[in-house]
Amino acid sequence: MTRVACVGTGLVGSAWSVVFAKAGCEVAMFDAAGGAAEDRSRELIGQTLRLLADTGELDRTPEAIQASIRYVGTLEEALDGVSHVQESAKEDPGVKRQLFETLGRLAPRDAVLASSTSAIKGSEFLTFETADRALVAHPVNPPSLIPLVELCGTPRTAPETIERTHAFMTALGMAPVVLRKEIDGFLLNRLQYTLVAEALHLVGEGYCSAADIDRVMTQGLALRWATIGPFEVAHLNSPHGFRGFVDHLGGMMRKMGADARTDYDWPDSLASDIHAELLSVVPEARFSERQAWRDANIAATRAMQRAAGDRFAESTLSKRRGNDDEPAV
Ligand SMILES: NC(=O)c1ccc[n+]([C@@H]2O[C@H](COP(=O)([O-])OP(=O)(O)OC[C@H]3O[C@@H](n4cnc5c(N)ncnc54)[C@H](O)[C@@H]3O)[C@@H](O)[C@H]2O)c1
Repeated sequence: MTRVACVGTGLVGSAWSVVFAKAGCEVAMFDAAGGAAEDRSRELIGQTLRLLADTGELDRTPEAIQASIRYVGTLEEALDGVSHVQESAKEDPGVKRQLFETLGRLAPRDAVLASSTSAIKGSEFLTFETADRALVAHPVNPPSLIPLVELCGTPRTAPETIERTHAFMTALGMAPVVLRKEIDGFLLNRLQYTLVAEALHLVGEGYCSAADIDRVMTQGLALRWATIGPFEVAHLNSPHGFRGFVDHLGGMMRKMGADARTDYDWPDSLASDIHAELLSVVPEARFSERQAWRDANIAATRAMQRAAGDRFAESTLSKRRGNDDEPAV
C-alpha cells in the first residue's frame, strides 16, 4: 500500500488526506499544532467524506477511509516508509524553507516532496540539498472536491520527479497541469486575481454592484467555463474557429485587455462597501452553512461533468494543451 505523509493538516492538508485515502493510500498526518489541529482536521475530513458518500464517489464507507488516516506526534513517524510527502503548512517562505530542510533530511531518499503553496515560487524555499525530488503541487481548495493540481518544478527539480508526480496525481483521480517554467501565483491564481482586479475596478468606478459581478460569473461565464475553457469558447463561437475569432474580434479583445485596470488601486472604503454588501446576504454566523452548500454544489457539478464525459478531451484537447505529453520543467 502506498504510504503518504501530509505535513500541515489544516484546511488544505486535511482535504489532501481525503484524496490520498480515498484512492487507497495509507496516510500519516503531522501538524506542528498537535492535538488542536487534529480535532479540526478530523471534523473536516468527516464532513467531506459524508458529502462524497452522498454523491456516490466512495467505494468504501467513510469510516473505512477515515481509518486509513492516522495522526502522529513526530515528523519521523509521519515520514516512515512514505513515497510522497504533501506539505500544506503556513504560506511563508521562511517556514517552508526550514520545514523542507528537515523533510529533506528525514524523508526516504526516493520520496517526492511536494508543496501546496498557493503563490510562492518553489525556488524560493526548495533550497535543501536533495531538492531534485521536490516541486510545487498546488491544489485548488479543497482538492478533495476540485481535481486541478498545478505542478511546477524549480530549475533543480529532476524531470523524473515531475513525471512521477504527474502519474501519481493522475492515478489519484486529480487533473494535473505542468507549468513549463516558474511564475508567481502559477496559472489559476494569476487568472483568478486578474479577473478579481478588473471586477474591483468595475465596482469601484460605479459600473455595477459586487452582487452583479457574482451573478455575471455564476449565471454566465462559469456555466460555459465549467465545460470548456476560454480558448475553446472562442473557438466554438466563430464559424472558422479560434483563428477566425481572432481575425474578426481580435481588435476588440486587445482593446478590452488594454482598458482593463488590473492595477486598480481601490480605496479602503470600496473594500468595506463590498464587505457590507456581502454580509447582507451571507452574515458571518452563516459562513459554515454557506460553505457546506458551496461544497455540495461543487460535488454536484463534478458529478455532472463526469456523467457528461468529454468525448474529445482524452484524445485531442489534452494533447493540444500539451499536458499529457511529456511533462517539462
Ligand atoms: N486555503 C486555500 O484556499 C489554499 C488553496 C491552495 C493552497 N493553499 C496553500 O496550502 C497551505 C496551507 O494552507 P491552509 O489554508 O490549509 O492553512 P491552515 O492555516 O488551515 O493550515 C496550516 C496548518 O499548518 C500547520 N503548520 C504551520 N507550520 C507548520 C510546520 N512547520 N510544520 C507542520 N505544520 C505546520 C498549522 O498548525 C496549521 O494547522 C498554504 O501554503 C496555502 O497557501 C491554500
